[in-house]
Parts: sequence; structure tokens; C-alpha cells
Amino acid sequence: MRVEICVEKLSGHDTEGKLGKIEVAVGDEIKSGDLLFAIESGKGSVKSKSKYDGKVVEIAAKTGDTLKKGAVVLVIEGQASQENTRVSSADAKPQGYSFGIAKPKKEVITADIAIVGGGPGGYVAAIRGAQLGKRVVLIEEDRMGGTCLNYGCIPTKALAHSTKVLRHIQDAENYGFNVASFDINMERVIERKSEVVDTLVGGIEHLMEANDIQVVKGTALLESDTQIKVENKKVSATINFENLIIATGSEVSYINIEGHDLDSIITSKDALELKEVPKSITIIGGGVIGMEFAFIFNALGSEVHVIEYLPEILALLDQDAADVIRASADAKGIKVHAGACAAGIYETENQMMMTSYQKEGQMHYVATEKVMMAVGRKARIENLNLEKLGVDLNERENGIKVDAHMRTTNERIYAIGDVTNIVQLAHVASHQGIVAVECIAGLDSEMHYDLIPSAIFTSPEVGHVGLTEKSAADQGLDIKVSHFHFAANGKSVAMGETEGFVKIISSPETETILGATIVGANGTDMIATLSNLIADATKLEAAAKIIYAHPTAAESVHEAILGALDRGLHNA
Ligand code: NAI
Repeated sequence: MRVEICVEKLSGHDTEGKLGKIEVAVGDEIKSGDLLFAIESGKGSVKSKSKYDGKVVEIAAKTGDTLKKGAVVLVIEGQASQENTRVSSADAKPQGYSFGIAKPKKEVITADIAIVGGGPGGYVAAIRGAQLGKRVVLIEEDRMGGTCLNYGCIPTKALAHSTKVLRHIQDAENYGFNVASFDINMERVIERKSEVVDTLVGGIEHLMEANDIQVVKGTALLESDTQIKVENKKVSATINFENLIIATGSEVSYINIEGHDLDSIITSKDALELKEVPKSITIIGGGVIGMEFAFIFNALGSEVHVIEYLPEILALLDQDAADVIRASADAKGIKVHAGACAAGIYETENQMMMTSYQKEGQMHYVATEKVMMAVGRKARIENLNLEKLGVDLNERENGIKVDAHMRTTNERIYAIGDVTNIVQLAHVASHQGIVAVECIAGLDSEMHYDLIPSAIFTSPEVGHVGLTEKSAADQGLDIKVSHFHFAANGKSVAMGETEGFVKIISSPETETILGATIVGANGTDMIATLSNLIADATKLEAAAKIIYAHPTAAESVHEAILGALDRGLHNA
């Protein structure tokens, strides 16, 4: 049969690109997997490999030509190959044909490493695997990027940034600008969020291509510890692998109270698609997701209620840091009901939702337009055939059991990210992915969890790393605590962002920093400095000698370090 090989895929969202070297000539016999040509465009190069065995009968373009998607580059006489190893994701999609084919072609793929899940765990593991010379295939049933990119960290930050712009507009008069009037265009807020997500998803797809990682779109069926099948309308693939990495992530969990299964209850994923700002919303759970959305909805004008079971919101933080966020929430009108256990959710006759909660022995009721569940996420361990694969769950049976190398109880199989339920953070998943792949490649790599930073995008935001005061107390450690408040920092005053502080927990014995929390503008970025100082076990004296540029908010880090040495300069 005669097959026209076209420009099928260009990097990113490019619509045309320049044809690179054509690797074959008329008369050449080619085999499936042979490199045919590459197309360069603004965002990088995409390689095209053959999915056919046959002979080149025509070259229809020349190196340097600018070609649009769909342009024919060469024609072969041949047939589709049954055995198709290591083709690029560009070729995972059908190439241009001179006749129509609807059925998926059966593919048999051989890989060193198969990765199930393309979130920040899976896709980073794939890139590291490719860097180490491994043939990697990644199976993803949704868009690349996982929860973090599509429904979590990134879209939430896009919304949080929109609300930051809004707060600036609302406060403009204070800075000398009279904004006569403004409207909230929620559709545009959501559209911009989607643009941000699309750009970054496109970037990851490009990285997969650039690293020659084959992406198979569909749900992976784990047949055995050497084989995965993917079957759907577009794909019929059998993937034989040496090692497997499970990176299936997590999903929203619900508390088992009356009404928890009502369709009208929204999750953080649904909240990212709301085209209209709800007049009022009750958020069950005052953890990280609950509080980030509380500030977003509050800024957009919703009446926000947060029901939190524990005595205080953001229980992972020290009390003084949580107090700053609580004071900010109170000042902005967010109604936090702490020490309150959600008991039931009911739909009312006038399309409202009633949430009941118990606090100090009494039942309370709050009626709002929407109710959002934010009480944690559970590992996606269903339908993975784990028992047959000899992969055990952890003691609490809420995640896959792994050792420090991310190896499960089946030594061919590794698990990374939220599915392990160790620390549910994107950057942890990525590092676990790197460790897993390096171990597969024979490197001595181990995961350590003592210096995992956290970044909470409330208003103000919070960055934390290392020990908290309460974890130090739990360990019976002798510590010294020093604070420097942004209210005494020149840049912060100039920016009008004086809430919060830098807090440093140090050891009088070792004279090093053990932990730090920054509550305040850009705290999530600045915390990296303290990660470095802790990781390098830098002595306080040496840290104090580092010069911080003036005027910057980061000078507060310097002041907190000086405070730990009892020589703060700008502390009253
Ligand atoms: P979470 O575990 O942080 O917070 C859930 C909260 O719900 C807890 O404070 C808990 O006490 C409360 N709760 C549970 N049952 C309740 C009840 N019946 N009534 C009232 N309150 C109840 O979980 P969240 O916020 O859903 O986040 C899930 C995961 O995603 C976490 O591991 C979090 O660290 C991670 N994440 C991290 C982000 C970041 O670092 N910026 C952003 C988003 C998520």
C-alpha cells in the first residue's frame, strides 16, 4: 500500500515549521522505528519515525522548506508493522494516509521503563529515565501534567493571581489611583486560568517529544509485572517492560456524613470551572486546599464559611503562623468555624445548601449557595491489580508501600507521588520519580523527607521548611526561635505588604538553622534561601555574613538570622 508521510505534529502550538535533514532517500528500504525527518519550529524539534516497513518511493519536500501541519514529506510503499518499538509520541498518532483507517493499529511496545501516570511524578521520572538512556513509555488517560497542572497547583495559582490583581484594583485609591468602576468577568478569569494550564501542558508534551519518550493515551491495565495493555477507540497497545513505575496520583476524598454524595457538592476541581462567582460558599476542611480557595472566593466577593474540625486552620503550621492567616481571614470577612465537625449536607427547597456542624456540643447550621469538600485526598490504588502483582499497601492501607528507593514489595515495580501517600506534594512526587529512575538505572539514590518545603497560597502566603516549633518540642529538642516582622522591612512597607514575619528555629547547640517559616508576600519564593542554609548546615555566624540586597523583602531573612544571634538591627 502507498502511504503518505505528513507533518503530523509540531512542537507546542506551532502551526508550521522548517524541515530538517531527511534521513532517507528514494529507493531506501525502511523499517518501523526508523527516523525519517525532523521538523524545527519556534518551540523546538519534533522527530518523525516510521510506523511502517517498506520502501521510499518519493520525497515530496526538501530540507529547509517551511511546512504546515498535514504537508506531505515523503511517500512509501509498505505495510504497518505489528512490532513497533520506541516510536516518538508524534507517531503515536496516525500519520497521513492516502486512504482512511479508523481502527487503532495494534502496537507492541518494548520499553525499559513503563510509567503509569503523567503528573509531576510520572513525567519527571520519564525525562530522567530518558537522560539516563532508558527507553521510556508513559501511559496517561487524561492530559499530561496530572492533578497539579490541570486541576491543582497551577490553575489554583492562576486564580489566586487574578484575585491578587483584583485586590490591587480595590486598593488602588490608597496608591493614588482612582479606578472609577470595574467588573469581575469570571468567564475571563477561568479562560485565563485555562490558557495558563494549556501553555504548560503543551510544554510538557513538547518535553516528552524532545526526550523521545513515547506517550500512550489511555487507561493502563496492569496485566503482570512485565506487561501492560491499553485498549480504547484510538489505541490498542501491549507494552512489555523491564521496570514499572506507578504514579497514578490521588483523588478527592469525602467524609462519610449525610449528604456527602450529593451531586451538587463541588470539589477543588469543580471550583476551577465555575463561570459565575457563587454568592456564598461553605468549605468543609480548613487545610491547605480549603484555605487557598477560601481566600480566592472571598476576594471574588463570595460570603465564605470554613468548617474545620481541628481547633485551628492549617494545622501543619505553628500557631503563630496560623494566627496571621486566621487574622487575615477574619479581617477579610471569611467566617472560620474552627473546632467544628461537619455533620450533614442538605439541599433546600430554594436551591440553597445547608451544612450542619457540631461545635462545643451544639449543632449549628449554615446555608450557602455552594458547598465544597476539601477534607484531603486519597491515593488512587483501585484497579491496579496490586495483589496479583505482589505489590503491598502500607500499614494504614491508604497508599502503596515503598522503601527509601521508592521500590514496592515487587522489586521490578516502583511507586511515586500521591499514590504512596507519604507526602502529597508535587515537588515530592518529582523527586521520588528521580530517585526511582536512578535506582532502576543502578545509581545509589534515596529519598529523604526532612527538608521538604511547603508553599501555601493564602493571603498572605506561607513558605515553610524543616522543623516547626511543635515538631521540635515533640522531639524534645532545645531550640531558639527568632522572628523578624515585615512591618519593619523597608521594601515591604513601600509595597504596602507588611503582614507576617520570617521565623527561624535554630539549635543553640549546633548553631545551625533547623527550620523556618515565612508568612508574608513572596514567602513561598523566599523560603528556598533557608532550605539551602539548612541543607548545607551553614553556621548562623556564616549565614549572618551573607549580604542581602537592599531594598528587598529578603533582608528580613537576614534580620531573622541576626535575631537568632541576638544581634537584630531593625527589631524594636
Ligand atoms: P488537608 O489534609 O490539608 O486538610 C483537610 C482538613 O479537613 C483538615 O484540616 C481536617 O482537620 C479537616 N476535616 C476533616 N474532616 C472534617 C470534618 N468532618 N469537618 C470539618 N473538617 C474536617 O487536605 P486538603 O486541604 O484537601 O489537601 C489535600 C492534599 O493536597 C494535602 O496533602 C495538601 O498538602 C495537598 N495540597 C497542597 C497544596 C500546597 O502545598 N499549596 C495545595 C493543595 C493541596
